[in-house]
Amino acid sequence: MTARRPLIAGNWKMNGLLADGRALAAGVAEKRKAFGESAPFDMLVCPPFTLVTAVVDAVAGSGVEVGGQDCHTAEKGAHTGDVGPAMLKDAGCAYVIVGHSERRTDHGETDAVVKAKAEAALAAGLKVIVCIGETLEEREAGQTLDVNKRQLNGSLPAGASAENCVIAYEPVWAIGTGKVATPEQAQEVHAAIRAELKGLVGGIAEDMRILYGGSMKPGNAAELMAQTDIDGGLIGGASLKVDDFIGIAEAAG
Ligand code: 13P
Repeated sequence: MTARRPLIAGNWKMNGLLADGRALAAGVAEKRKAFGESAPFDMLVCPPFTLVTAVVDAVAGSGVEVGGQDCHTAEKGAHTGDVGPAMLKDAGCAYVIVGHSERRTDHGETDAVVKAKAEAALAAGLKVIVCIGETLEEREAGQTLDVNKRQLNGSLPAGASAENCVIAYEPVWAIGTGKVATPEQAQEVHAAIRAELKGLVGGIAEDMRILYGGSMKPGNAAELMAQTDIDGGLIGGASLKVDDFIGIAEAAG
């Protein structure tokens, strides 16, 4: 197996006014700098669109990258309220999250829409984090692996590589609930995702990062990231506190 460099990614969701966002980003940047050049992980924060520019400024030179939380499929045009991938890139983003379960639920995004967004993002030179994950109902019905495989097949962009694409497994029942998947539950799904990826992209699957997301905290992160196929975290609530987010990064080392 090739060594995959962990990615510690914060998804701030719809949180933060300018002063909070600046302070949080500056706090994360300062702590990230203290790890120096040899930090054993990559670090990313994904603020709401309104804070992207301020956060890009606040983390400049620290090694922390910035991402958007969603993008449109079109390059530009008459799409009131939406943001195109080239706009994110222009604002200083390196990544964009697509297909988060909150987008799938709140905005009815299908796998086909997620795939189109991911392909538009890659075309604009962004890297993508493609989110998949089962609901509690699906897990209880024994459909976990099928659902994740189906979402992966439907959402993975053409041209995905280990450099430009990250998968995030986020069981919906673990998001914001404090109910974290056990390391064994998460590993089982991560291994199935990697096996499915092998069929889709061949040997690249060994190098592609698969993040876990869902109530990840400093106290459970080490055990989760110690699993063979868990290559970092997509962190919601705990990414809003500098010490918690950095505590998770420390667990990756
Ligand atoms: P929480 O860490 O708040 O459970 O959120 C996870 C998530 O949805 C990250 O995208």
